[in-house]
Parts: sequence; structure tokens; C-alpha cells
Amino acid sequence: MVGSTQVPGDKSISHRYAILAALAGGTSDLRNFSTADDCARTLDCLHRLGVEVRSEGDHVTITGVGLDGLRRSWRALDAGNSGTTMRLLAGVLAGQSFRSKLTGDDSLCRRPMHRVIEPLRQMGARIESRDGGLAPLEIHGAPLKAIDYTLPVASAQVKSAVLLAGLLASGTTSVTEPVATRDHTEVALAEFGAEVARNGRTTRVQGHPQLHGQNLTVPGDISSAVFFLAAALILPGSNLMLHNIGMNPTRTAVLDLLSSMGASIRLVGVEMQHGELVGDIAIGHADLVGSVVSGEATAKMIDELPMLAALGPYTEKGIEIRDAAELRVKESDRITAVAGNLRRMGATVEEFPDGLRVTGRSVGRLRGAEIDSFGDHRIAMAFAVAALGAEGPTTIHGSECAAVSFPDFYRLLDRIAER
Ligand code: S3P
Repeated sequence: MVGSTQVPGDKSISHRYAILAALAGGTSDLRNFSTADDCARTLDCLHRLGVEVRSEGDHVTITGVGLDGLRRSWRALDAGNSGTTMRLLAGVLAGQSFRSKLTGDDSLCRRPMHRVIEPLRQMGARIESRDGGLAPLEIHGAPLKAIDYTLPVASAQVKSAVLLAGLLASGTTSVTEPVATRDHTEVALAEFGAEVARNGRTTRVQGHPQLHGQNLTVPGDISSAVFFLAAALILPGSNLMLHNIGMNPTRTAVLDLLSSMGASIRLVGVEMQHGELVGDIAIGHADLVGSVVSGEATAKMIDELPMLAALGPYTEKGIEIRDAAELRVKESDRITAVAGNLRRMGATVEEFPDGLRVTGRSVGRLRGAEIDSFGDHRIAMAFAVAALGAEGPTTIHGSECAAVSFPDFYRLLDRIAER
């Protein structure tokens, strides 16, 4: 695998730019906006809420309506597979003067929403859900009051929902998190002109700021880049360069881990763009040692864990992941999905309630197999990469779900892997 490539714009940042652009005054011009289905859901929901959204490939123009300019959507807002769309928009809709219904696909309607309902109720919104905390959500917006909220789970989505609701609340809203999770909302809020202050793990936002439209370029998504980093590590003779990747320090724990396992990763031309670090990543094939990921590190690379686990059989000592019970409530139960699929390929895996242990290469080379994506984009992509070093062909059922975050994934992988 030799060459260079780009990956789509960061999914997390794209959602946030779109939502803040909609709530700002004036027009925002967003370049390298994620082409993921998830982000298209956010754009569609904003459009249904009366916001003018023009999108051409990865170039999106949004004409903001101001903090109190959204209009009621008479149809349900469909977040599809996107937890970020549902949870962040729940925060925005909690402070509106109208009612909204937020729904999603089967996977999203099984994921826990109580974690956003609870703080938003404390702020004054009335929210009805199915079975005590599942979507569809019926959100009765109300004048919100600021709260000081301590997150019971490490979740950037919940933190962001409360901070976005805080924009519509009177007073100063604060959120304290148990582990520092991705801070794109805090960074983007400041870019759009909100008053945000950070002190350790507590973030404060002032209600009713004047937000202003911005011209922004979204950095490449490091969570998508990781599939190519892993492919380069697996395939002998690799030499790969990934351009314009977001390197926000709340997202780069995976690079530190891979380096500690023996990967040689070179960061080139890293610079700050609109509060986000961006640069190129160079990587080659390496013999990886293996590692145990636990505690804060687990929370800091939550989206990269399926790929890391699938790298386990390519390492000397294997990969163990602990404190990762959150993986069970992602787009699929990622612990069960990874363990089952790895076993089909001949790996030795022990599953725990909060993680798994994958034995290293001593048990032999992976065999190509029939893989179930469980409709989860990161499972499909992780096993496409794992299959590159396996003996014999692999078939991934439901592979098209990769489009949830990375529509062009297989074409790019194919182009790069055959060199
Ligand atoms: C995201 C936060 C993470 C991550 C998800 C995107 C975000 O979820 O898994 O893919 O954009 O805020 P949690 O914050 O629920 O862990």
C-alpha cells in the first residue's frame, strides 16, 4: 500500500458547524463538509426546521436564522443512523417555542436517549420518549433555565446537547465531564461568537449570544483515517500519506497508542485552523507489539476501538480493551460484533462485559470469512481492513453501511491497497 489520499471531512465537526451555522445570523460557507449519510441527516433536519441549506458535494452553504428563527417541522425529523444528529438537535429543540418529533432508524431507536432527556428536562423542556428513554422523542420546547450539570457518562454528544441548550437558556450553563471527551462543540461555539469558558473538565456557556456565520473548512476525519493507518500497518511494504487530517488533541489518543505499539507515525505541517489542529500523517508497515487500552484512554478513542481490536491478531501480544461498556450502545453492540466476526476469521477472543481480549499472531494467520456488519459502518470498515491480511476472500454482508460515515471507503481502499 503506497501513495497518498484524503478522507472525508470530520463527521463530528461537520454536525456542529451545520447546527451553529443554522443558529447564527448571516451565511456560513462550509468546505470539505463530511459527505457521510449521518451529516446529510443533520442538514435535512435543519432544512425541515426552516433553514436554507445548499449542498453540492462537500461544499455546504447555510443561511442562518438566528437563535429564535427555527420553525416547527410538521413532519418528524429523521436522524437516520446518527446519534449525534439526534442528541445535538435534542439540545437545540429543547429551547424552541414549538414541539418537535425526533426519530431514527432501528439501530438509533434502540440507543439510550435518557442521557440527554434528563439534563434537558432539568433545564425546563418536556420530553416524551418510548419505554423510558428510547426514540422517537417528542420534544416540547420551553424557555430554558441554565443548569450546572455533571455528566454521569463520558459523552461528547450529551455535553454538546446541554451546551447547545445553554445557548437558548437564561444565565450560564455549565457542564462537567468525568473524562475530557472531544471538544469540537466548545471550539466551534467560540468560532461562531458564543461566550465559552473552560476550566479543567468544566465548560460554561452564556445564554443568548449573538452568533455570526463563518467561512470554515472541516479537517479530515481522524476516525476515518484510522482504517487506512491500520491497513498500512498490516500490509508489508506500505508507505502511506494522509492529507489534512484533524489532529485535535481530544481525538489523537489513537495515534499515541499506535506509536506506543511500534508504529512509526510522522505528523507533517500541523497547523491551527479555526481552533482545530490539522496536518498530514505519514505511516508505514510495522510489527506491532499489542497493548491494553483502559480507563480514560478507552473513552478518548471510543470510535477507533473496533479497528484496534481487529488489529489484535496482527500484533505480537494481542489487544485487550477494557472500560468500554459504551461500545455496547453504539450503532451496534460493537463488542459482540467484533468478537463474533474475529472468531469467524479464526482469531481467539475472550469477551467481557466491558470489553474484549484478542490474542496476537501466535494463533496463526486470519482466514477470510463471511462477516456480518450488523449494519454498523465501523464494523464493516474494520473487517474490510482486517481482511486485507487474511488468507482467502472475505465477504462483508451489509457492507454498504460504510456510507454512514465514509461513502467512498471501498473505492479508496481498493485504489490504495493494490499499489
Ligand atoms: C460523537 C461522540 C461520540 C462518538 C460519536 C460522535 C460526537 O459519542 O462515538 O461517533 O460527535 O460528539 P458519545 O459522545 O456518545 O460517546
